[in-house]
Amino acid sequence: MIAAAKIRTGVAGLDKMLHGGLVPGRPYILSGAPGSGKTILSVQFLREGLEGGERCLFVALEEPPNELKINMRAFRWNLDDLDVLDANSDIRRFEPTPLLEISTEEEPIKMRAIGERIRKTPDFESKEVTVHSLQQLLKNLLVKKSYERVVIDSITALKYFCMREFETALTTQSFMRYLSESKVTSLLTLELPEEGEVPPEAFLARGEFRLHKLRDETGIKRFVSVEKYKGSSHEEAVFPFEITNSGIVVNTVSKPAMAI
Ligand SMILES: Nc1ncnc2c1ncn2[C@@H]1O[C@H](COP(=O)(O)OP(=O)(O)O)[C@@H](O)[C@H]1O
Ligand SMILES: [Mg+2]
Repeated sequence: MIAAAKIRTGVAGLDKMLHGGLVPGRPYILSGAPGSGKTILSVQFLREGLEGGERCLFVALEEPPNELKINMRAFRWNLDDLDVLDANSDIRRFEPTPLLEISTEEEPIKMRAIGERIRKTPDFESKEVTVHSLQQLLKNLLVKKSYERVVIDSITALKYFCMREFETALTTQSFMRYLSESKVTSLLTLELPEEGEVPPEAFLARGEFRLHKLRDETGIKRFVSVEKYKGSSHEEAVFPFEITNSGIVVNTVSKPAMAI
């Protein structure tokens, strides 16, 4: 069987590390500490899709879409056609009224329209964002809009804010399984508090790419590694990267970084 052509991640250096990019139609985990660059890289991944005329969806569970829009402004990416689904849970909202809810009928909003209008459920009913409602909504959206790239930012927030304690392990697994069955290429960000930990989500993902944030006497240093990549060869070394005005840039030219 001939392997499917790989697609670009939007970060040239990461594509090099992945020996050409991502095998499409599969779920991948992007893990790292808070502030390591996960959201930036995942938007860069969607922007790459938009440039190629693909339909892309960003599911925002960590920050309100208008904040995301402001944070991404510095990179001057054209994200007008990006669909953003506001799945921020009620308890994390700063708005005084809990009227901004997702229901299975709702549509994502275009990035270009964010800030110009506020979504409301027609019946003013406050619904919890559950993993089931999100999964159902995604199912409908994938059929209707045939997204090629989807980002879930983050699976950690989905776990903590949208699941009841007893259901986290099983529900996360079934959500990951659902994503692997749908034909979309998905990137799920994952908060990683401890270096060296293997998150359970990584077992079901087809690949895990990890952003490392280390501190030395000169300041913060960033590195990226490919922890796992099913069905593909990849670089084993850890490479330094920087967050620049044009997004994440991995330095694959200089000697690989020492083992972390
Ligand atoms: N315009 C920018 N230029 C350079 N670095 C930036 C810029 N915007 C954000 N950063 C860096 O990126 C970090 C946030 O990245 P983000 O992708 O939101 O992290 P994560 O999603 O992993 O928590 C900030 O803490 C800051 O160090
Ligand atoms: Mg983030």
